Order: sequence, then structure tokens, then C-alpha cells
Amino acid sequence: MTTNFNELLETFHGYLATVDNTLVRDAVTRIAWDMPARALEPHPLACLSHLDRAVELAPPDAKPLVRFVADRRSDLRWGQTYSETDFGKAFIDNYGWLEVLGMRGHFANDAVAAGLLILGPDIVYPDHHHVAEEIYVPLTGGTEWRMGDGGFRARDAGEVIHHASNVNHAMRTGREPLLALYIWRGGPLAAKSTITGTVAQGRA
Ligand SMILES: [Fe+2]
Repeated sequence: MTTNFNELLETFHGYLATVDNTLVRDAVTRIAWDMPARALEPHPLACLSHLDRAVELAPPDAKPLVRFVADRRSDLRWGQTYSETDFGKAFIDNYGWLEVLGMRGHFANDAVAAGLLILGPDIVYPDHHHVAEEIYVPLTGGTEWRMGDGGFRARDAGEVIHHASNVNHAMRTGREPLLALYIWRGGPLAAKSTITGTVAQGRA
């Protein structure tokens, strides 16, 4: 099945254009937005059930994007980089991403990968790092993020979080799920992260 996902790319781009941040503006400017679409088979995941709550939690600027993705969830190709042996079953049942653009996404781009990440409530995404530089914009608030030797810090929806190349980072959700927009650039764009954190799920 092929679906015209131009609206996905337009809504994604439209949200990014509202983010008032130098790093995001620079990334958005460098992306050639007239990318060719790929015909991808849909691939749903268990974590998609969290999208309904994400629509409720998303701030007004992000709502059109979150609503589009929630409405069309079963037409989109969702992926997972990890398996149950990495972080356990609770993680795998509550984790997934949608690559909007990139080497394997709905739109073809060899220089940048960008999309959306879902984490369910009470999930720890342990310390990991990768060569690519990563920019996150959470579309739901309440998740705690850490980088390097720093502690966990709660971040609001719309805050921009920058993970520099090869610096350890981790996230943990609380009562609410996380939906976050990500941009990966400057490294192998489909590489699996190097995991350095512990795999125990649930909050201490
Ligand atoms: Fe990362």
C-alpha cells in the first residue's frame, strides 16, 4: 500500500519552523525539504496506544503534527533499533520511532534523519551514546533527561535538548508518555547506539 504522505512532511516541517532556537533553525535550513517519498509498508507497534494521550498533552503548536500522526498511525512504518535482550520486554512494548526523513524513512535523505520517538510511562531509556549529533524537541512534558555527568532534569514540551556527538545521555518517563521529535545529523544515521547504562526498568 502506498499513501501520499506529503502532509506528514509538511506538518513536521511546519512544527519545526515554529521552534525558536538557533540549533533547530540551523538544522531546518540545511534540510532540502523537496525530498522524494518512499513507498513503505505500514508497521504498527504496541507503543502506538500512547499516541492518544500524546494528542491531549501536546501544546497548541505541536497539536497538528501529533494529531496527524495519531490519526494515521496504522499507515506509517514504525521501527525499533533495540530488541528485548537490550532493555527488556517492558521497554520494547513501550518504545518505537517513526523516521519521517532519512536513509530508511518515509522521505529519502542521506544527510539527516528526523522523526518521532515514543516512550510509554515509567520507562527508562538507559545511558547510551552515538556518533551522530542529536537534537530533541519533546512534544509532551514531564520526562526527565540527562547528559554527560549531569543529573536527570524534567523538560517541558517545546524545550530543545542537544546531545553532542558521543556524549552519554538517558531519559526516563514518569506518569505520562513521551512523544519527542528528533533530528540526527553528522554521523552514521542508521547506527545502533552504544549502551552504557543499566537495563532495569521502573523507577527506584
Ligand atoms: Fe540518542
